[in-house]
Formats: sequence, structure tokens, C-alpha cells
Amino acid sequence: MIVLWLLFLLLTAPLTSLAEKQAAGQDFNHMTTGFVLSGGHAVAACETCHVGGVFKGTPRNCAGCHAVGVRILATPKSSTHVVTDAPCESCHFNTATWLGARYNHGTAVPGQCVNCHNGRIAQGKTSSAKHNSTIGQNSCDSCHRTSAWLVTGYWNHTNNALYTYSGVNCVSCHSPSGIANEKVQSASHMPLTMGGLTFPDCRSCHTNFTSFGAARYDHVGASACTTCHNGTYSGVAGKTAGRHVTYTGTPECSACHSTTTWSSKLSSTTLHTTYFVGQTCQTCHASNSLISGAKKDDEHGGRYNTGVPDCSSSGCHAPLGGKGSAYTDWD
Ligand code: HEC
Ligand code: HEC
Ligand code: HEC
Ligand code: HEC
Ligand code: HEC
Ligand code: HEC
Ligand code: HEC
Ligand code: HEC
Ligand code: HEC
Ligand code: HEC
Repeated sequence: MIVLWLLFLLLTAPLTSLAEKQAAGQDFNHMTTGFVLSGGHAVAACETCHVGGVFKGTPRNCAGCHAVGVRILATPKSSTHVVTDAPCESCHFNTATWLGARYNHGTAVPGQCVNCHNGRIAQGKTSSAKHNSTIGQNSCDSCHRTSAWLVTGYWNHTNNALYTYSGVNCVSCHSPSGIANEKVQSASHMPLTMGGLTFPDCRSCHTNFTSFGAARYDHVGASACTTCHNGTYSGVAGKTAGRHVTYTGTPECSACHSTTTWSSKLSSTTLHTTYFVGQTCQTCHASNSLISGAKKDDEHGGRYNTGVPDCSSSGCHAPLGGKGSAYTDWD
């Protein structure tokens, strides 16, 4: 009934003033149409939308009015607007202002991100090394999700539209000029050509894509241990100064160690009679000794540290003394 009344009112519009029409119209509860008049719509005159007094079938979608060449005159996209065919509703969530638009990426087509993300319409790719590599760069979604530009935790090495995994080309990205230029070898990374060995394949030590930290090395055929285990390369174990035993000669690490663990494999007797000859027992066995693996004094309360003769030459412990058996037992 109200509708019919209003229709009558508006159809007879020429007879009444605009102000009267408006005033009468304000009584109509527009909510009942399901098209809430908010923001810029609340202050717009009824006629701007109901041109010629037509009510039924007035467009409800933004583009039905906010476009060029439609019956209703409402602000269309400007010439500098984001080039897109997506419905206005997917970016414009209110009728008060066009500013602060957010793009709902739910409908974004993979591979076409650059249509918007070209630095003009929306954030484009930056000029950093991350984007300078030769691999295709326009499919932003090959490397980026739509929620954030960070790739950490998202980058997929083995199933990437741009990157066909061939295994050995890690440096094409993991180099200062590559896209993963924050995850590159440090200055103290072990050289990849050393001691007659070459490592073209990073995977010989880096067997996962989660961390470079847990490097493993397959020692099959390895000799010249000190080429690598000299304490100068990042993450490659060397002798810890002050903690490692001092030994006679220049044997390779392999004289005492296996390639699977640093816990000595030599018998205690061989160690003492071949490599520790001539050193006083306290060098390693005193309570304040830092030598890893050497038994510390737990019987003497540290007394022999203060100038008492050597444990063995004093005539107490074997081999020169009577207590225990040489290098295997103190008592
Ligand atoms: C921003 C645009 C806009 C403005 C301004 C506007 N309307 Fe509407 N109106 C609509 C839309 C959209 C519909 C829904 C049309 C449909 O679904 O068929 C509608 C529906 C109606 C209907 C119901 C038509 C029907 O038969 O279902 C009436 C009556 C109406 N409007 C009256 C008014 C009056 C009076 C004013 C001024 C106070 C007004 N409208 C202002 C957009 C507008
Ligand atoms: C039935 C036609 C119609 C529909 C549908 C419609 N609008 Fe409007 N809108 C208008 C008219 C008319 C105005 C007032 C004139 C103008 O500012 O363009 C307006 C004004 C606005 C304004 C205020 C602009 C300003 O600077 O004050 C915004 C924002 C807006 N509309 C957004 C939207 C959005 C978003 C949608 C879809 C969710 C939408 N409109 C749907 C007709 C419509
Ligand atoms: C992909 C997202 C997106 C879609 C879809 C979209 N817009 Fe926009 N629109 C924007 C962005 C982003 C801005 C800039 C907002 C800002 O400056 O804060 C904008 C600004 C505007 C502006 C004000 C500045 C200008 O460039 O004109 C108008 C008017 C506008 N949009 C209308 C529309 C209309 C009408 C539609 C649908 C036909 C539409 N937009 C669809 C993202 C979109
Ligand atoms: C229709 C245009 C359009 C398309 C297509 C599009 N975007 Fe966007 N995107 C936008 C707009 C607009 C914004 C918000 C304004 C801005 O950041 O410049 C945005 C924001 C973003 C953001 C920043 C999110 C945030 O909250 O910081 C990311 C990331 C993004 N888009 C990724 C993508 C990816 C990936 C694709 C392809 C799958 C894509 N976009 C496709 C328009 C688009
Ligand atoms: C081959 C992979 C790749 C592609 C394709 C790619 N990016 Fe990136 N992008 C990166 C990486 C890696 C980062 C660094 C992210 C980090 O620090 O976590 C990055 C960072 C960014 C950032 C953050 C600013 C910065 O430089 O750190 C923006 C913005 C960005 N990309 C936009 C884009 C856009 C837009 C596209 C598509 C036109 C694109 N990217 C395509 C790999 C890519
Ligand atoms: C096409 C480029 C590309 C290639 C090729 C590539 N990566 Fe990556 N890699 C990345 C990107 C991008 C990241 C994420 C970087 C970031 O989070 O800043 C990454 C991250 C990693 C990480 C995680 C680092 C960390 O600390 O989070 C490891 C480990 C890794 N890559 C190993 C490898 C290995 C091993 C190879 C060769 C078999 C390889 N990658 C080849 C691009 C590549
Ligand atoms: C012979 C073994 C070996 C090879 C081959 C190797 N790495 Fe490493 N890499 C290591 C070790 C050991 C570390 C240190 C791990 C740690 O800190 O726990 C390391 C660490 C890294 C790191 C972290 C930063 C640093 O320097 O500590 C990156 C990045 C890295 N390697 C990249 C590469 C790339 C790329 C290749 C192939 C060109 C490669 N690595 C080949 C053994 C190797
Ligand atoms: C080409 C370099 C290289 C040579 C030569 C080499 N290693 Fe290694 N070794 C590594 C790397 C890299 C690792 C892994 C990082 C680490 O744990 O120090 C490693 C690890 C080890 C480990 C620790 C294993 C574990 O699981 O904790 C032992 C023990 C070891 N090497 C002993 C040796 C011995 C003994 C030799 C000589 C026969 C030798 N290595 C020769 C590079 C080398
Ligand atoms: C003469 C024998 C001998 C030689 C040669 C030798 N070590 Fe050791 N190393 C030992 C003994 C004994 C220990 C203590 C074992 C234990 O803790 O059980 C040890 C312990 C270690 C440890 C563990 C110490 C700690 O702080 O965790 C490392 C690492 C190690 N050696 C590295 C090396 C490297 C690298 C070389 C070659 C440059 C090497 N060693 C050569 C005898 C030797
Ligand atoms: C250069 C360091 C060093 C010197 C010098 C040294 N030892 Fe040792 N000693 C060790 C280490 C390391 C072990 C442990 C070896 C092992 O784990 O098999 C050990 C083990 C022993 C053990 C066996 C302990 C047990 O409970 O298993 C005895 C006994 C022993 N030493 C006696 C002596 C005597 C006596 C002297 C002096 C004549 C001496 N050592 C000199 C480093 C040294």
C-alpha cells in the first residue's frame, strides 16, 4: 500500500516541489527494499536513483549505477582506476567513501596478479635482487600468497610453477643476486673446492629445504680431515682451543676419530703411550683441566694441583706408581 502511495506521489511529481517530494519520501522505510540507504546513498536525492520515478528494477549492484553509459548518474571509475573487471563489491565495502579499498583476493586468478600489481595500480614488485633473477617474475603467486609479501614458510622448492626442480641449481637463487639473497653462504662457509675435492651439488651437505643449519657431509672416501675440520669454517667442527687434548706429531683427526662421532675410538692405552707421551698427567687430569673426556680428580680435593708431583712420577699411580693399572684404572 505504501509503495502504491509513493508511486502515486512520485508519478505526480511535476505537480509538487522537489522539497515536498523529498520530505514525503523520507517517510518511506527504504530498509524494506533490502537496499539500505547508507553513506553517500542516504544523502542522495531519491530521483538520482529512481530516474523518471522508476522504482522496481533499480539496479542493486554497484556497477549498475556507478558506471559510464547507464541510465543512473553515479560516480564511475576514473581513468586512473585499478584496471579490473572484478565487481566493485570485491574491493569497495562501504558507500561512504571510495578510499581505503581492499581487494578481496578470493577471485584473483593465478598468474594474473601483475595486471594489478604493476606498481601503478597496486604494489608492484620491488627492484631488489629478489626480483632480478632470470626466472619468470610476473606470476607473483608463484612465490607470493595474497595475504602478505613475505615468502618465508611459503616458498615451495619442489612444486613451484616457475621453478622446475633440477636439484643442483641452488645458487641461481641462493646468491647475492638471486631471489633468496638473504639465505646465502656466509664468508666463513667452507669453500666448495678444497683439498682436491669439489662440491658442485649443494645437496651433498644440504639435504632439506627447511634449514641450512643442519648440514651433513657424506664422508665416503674422505681423508685430509683437517682441510675441513680446522675450526675456520662455519658450522664445521674443529678442535676446540683449550678443550682438546694436545698430542704428539701431526696425525690426521682420523688417527683417533671416526667420521661418525668425535668420541675417541682409540683405546685409552694407545692414546697415552703413543700420543700423550711426555706430558704430565695433570695437564689433562687435574680438577681444573678443561680437557674433554679426561677424568677429573674427585678423590684428592684438588690438593695435588698446588705443586704436588705428577700423579704417576710421584710413585702413586700406574705406570710409575703402584696404584691401579696403567691408563685404564686409577686404583
Ligand atoms: C542510491 C540509490 C537509491 C536512492 C538514493 C533511493 N533508492 Fe529507492 N531503491 C533503490 C534500489 C536499488 C531499490 C531496489 C529495487 C529493486 O530491488 O527492484 C529501491 C527500491 C525502492 C522502492 C521499492 C520499489 C519496489 O517496488 O520494490 C521504493 C518505494 C523506493 N526505493 C523509494 C525511494 C525513495 C522514496 C527514496 C528517497 C528517499 C529512495 N528510494 C532513494 C535505490 C535507491
Ligand atoms: C541504484 C544506483 C546505485 C547503486 C546500486 C549503488 N550506488 Fe553508490 N551512489 C549512487 C548515487 C546516485 C550516489 C550519489 C552520487 C555520487 O556521489 O556518485 C552514490 C554515492 C556513492 C558513494 C559516495 C561517493 C562520495 O564521494 O560521496 C559511494 C562510496 C558509493 N556510492 C558506493 C557504492 C557502492 C560500493 C555500491 C555497491 C555496493 C554502490 N554505491 C551502489 C547510486 C548507486
Ligand atoms: C580490485 C579492486 C577494485 C575493484 C574491483 C574496484 N575498485 Fe575502485 N578502487 C580500488 C582502489 C584500490 C582504489 C583506491 C583507493 C584509495 O585511494 O584509497 C579505488 C578507488 C575508486 C574510486 C575513487 C578514485 C578513482 O580512481 O576513481 C572510485 C570512484 C572507484 N574506485 C569506483 C569503483 C567502481 C565503480 C568499481 C566497479 C565498477 C570499482 N571501483 C571496482 C579498487 C577497486
Ligand atoms: C584486480 C586487482 C588485483 C589482482 C588481480 C591481485 N591483487 Fe593483490 N592487491 C590488490 C589491491 C587493490 C591490494 C591492496 C592495495 C595494495 O596493496 O596496493 C592488493 C594487496 C595485495 C597484497 C598485500 C596484502 C597485505 O595485506 O599486505 C598481496 C600480498 C597481494 N595483493 C598479492 C596478490 C597476488 C599473489 C595476486 C595474484 C594471485 C594478486 N594479489 C592479485 C589488487 C589485486
Ligand atoms: C620467483 C619468486 C618471486 C616472484 C615471481 C615474485 N617475487 Fe616478490 N619477492 C620474492 C622474494 C623471495 C621476496 C622476499 C620476501 C621475504 O623477504 O620474505 C619478495 C618480496 C616482495 C615484496 C616485499 C618487498 C621486498 O622487496 O622485500 C613485494 C612488494 C613483492 N615481492 C612483490 C612482488 C610482485 C608484485 C610480484 C609479481 C609482479 C612478485 N613480487 C613476484 C620472490 C618473488
Ligand atoms: C628458484 C629459486 C630457488 C632455488 C633454485 C632454490 N631455492 Fe632455496 N629458497 C628459495 C627461496 C625464495 C627461499 C625462501 C627465502 C626466505 O625465506 O627468505 C628459499 C629457502 C631455502 C631454505 C630455508 C632457509 C631458511 O633459513 O629458512 C633452504 C634450506 C633452501 N632454500 C635450500 C635450497 C637448496 C638446497 C637448493 C638447491 C637444491 C635450493 N634451496 C634452491 C629459492 C630457491
Ligand atoms: C661439503 C659440505 C657443504 C656443501 C657442499 C655446501 N655447504 Fe652450505 N653449509 C655447510 C655447513 C657445514 C654449513 C654450516 C651449518 C651450520 O651452521 O650448522 C653450511 C651453511 C650454509 C648456509 C648458511 C650460512 C652459512 O654460511 O653458515 C648457506 C646459505 C649455505 N650453506 C648454502 C650453500 C649452498 C648454496 C651450497 C652449494 C653452492 C652449499 N651451501 C654447499 C656445508 C656445505
Ligand atoms: C670436505 C670437507 C670434510 C672433510 C675432508 C671431512 N669432513 Fe667431517 N664433516 C664435514 C662436514 C661439513 C660435517 C658436518 C658438519 C659438522 O658436524 O661438523 C662433518 C662432520 C663430521 C663429524 C661429525 C659427525 C656427526 O654426525 O656428528 C665427524 C666425527 C667428522 N666429520 C669426522 C671427519 C673425519 C675423521 C675426517 C677425515 C677422515 C673428516 N671428517 C673429513 C666435512 C668434512
Ligand atoms: C691423538 C688423538 C686425537 C687426534 C689426532 C684428534 N683428536 Fe679430537 N679428541 C681426542 C680425544 C681423546 C678426545 C676426547 C674424547 C672424548 O671426549 O671422549 C677428542 C675430542 C674431540 C672433540 C670433542 C671435543 C668437544 O669439545 O666436544 C672434537 C670436536 C675433536 N676431538 C675434533 C678433532 C679434530 C677436528 C681433529 C683433527 C684436526 C682431532 N680431534 C684430532 C683425540 C684426538
Ligand atoms: C693429553 C691429555 C692426557 C694426559 C697427559 C694424560 N691423560 Fe689419561 N686420559 C686422557 C683422556 C682423554 C682419557 C680418556 C680416554 C678415553 O675416553 O678413552 C684418559 C684416561 C685415563 C685413565 C682411565 C680413566 C678411566 O677412569 O677410564 C687413566 C687411569 C689415565 N688416563 C691415567 C693417566 C696418567 C697416569 C697419566 C700421566 C702419566 C695420564 N693419564 C696422562 C688424557 C690424558
